[in-house]
Amino acid sequence: MIEALRNLEKDARSEVESLSDPTLLQDLKIKYLGRKGLFASLSSQIGQATPEERKLIGQELNRVKNTLEGLFSEKERTISQGGGSEAPWIDTTMPGTFFEHGSLHPLSQVVLDITKIFRALGFSVVDGPEVETEYYNFQALNIPLNHPARDGFDTFYFENGRLLRSQTSPVQIRVMEKTKPPVKIIAPGKVYRPDATDATHSFMFHQIEGLLVDTRVSFADLKGVLFAFAKEFFGTGTKIRFRPHFFPFTEPSAEVDVYFPSRGWLEILGAGMVHPNVLRAVKIDPKKYSGFAFGMGVERMAMLKYGVEDIRHFFENDMRFLKQF
Ligand code: PHE
Repeated sequence: MIEALRNLEKDARSEVESLSDPTLLQDLKIKYLGRKGLFASLSSQIGQATPEERKLIGQELNRVKNTLEGLFSEKERTISQGGGSEAPWIDTTMPGTFFEHGSLHPLSQVVLDITKIFRALGFSVVDGPEVETEYYNFQALNIPLNHPARDGFDTFYFENGRLLRSQTSPVQIRVMEKTKPPVKIIAPGKVYRPDATDATHSFMFHQIEGLLVDTRVSFADLKGVLFAFAKEFFGTGTKIRFRPHFFPFTEPSAEVDVYFPSRGWLEILGAGMVHPNVLRAVKIDPKKYSGFAFGMGVERMAMLKYGVEDIRHFFENDMRFLKQF
């Protein structure tokens, strides 16, 4: 019986050790120390022992009972204090791990805002290469070699004669080469000019080109589309005006200004009726078709809409700036 008691002690020890759940521990305590538990049923056998044995067994019963009770209360204490080594204690009141999630760059957001407006007006969105040929960036757009108009579109050249497009207008040519009128597209993308960087200039910036070619397209259509756009982008009360201007690829041409009560008239884009020479370059008959085109600077639109004072904020990756959008 002494041996049975010691085995009971050993079993209880290993079972208690392997537990870390308080409810299971209570069940185990009942299994060993409950009124009908293993210890109780062993101690009831003491009646079968001889009187001499009884003294020894009695002592052993007491010792094992105390040991078991100590074992359980010790384990109860470690669990309530945060568990043993195999059961890391979890502080459910501790704030969780915080995952920062990113957002679109403000320029991407503005491009999406603008394209959404033009999509609603029936324009589709197209893309074009940033590395261009002189033909697409200049000649086809009615800017002949050595023409002074090229100065207005200062350009980065590669040694092989290719260049980084200085405007999104070459996309007009690429689209019209492939698509017969009606053509109704906008083309957002990066453009490059070797300007010294300051608050309003960057060697890389974004434009959105627009082109509509069909039968009987007039300057009134251009005005209507750009006015609708400006009201949608800057707000319903927005006022715009067209100032005569010159672009080689449009005739007549205009620059469009938006009125800001605090700052007066500010230019937002260039526009005009597609020059007949441009239509001829893509084999569209200017007697049958006419069209308008426009090109706006995305940074400029974003700066005006959100009151950003310096174009460099868009490119410096300062989270304090970016987080505001
Ligand atoms: N490409 C012109 C620029 O970069 C903008 C423009 C586009 C003007 C289309 C007229 C028509 O300044």
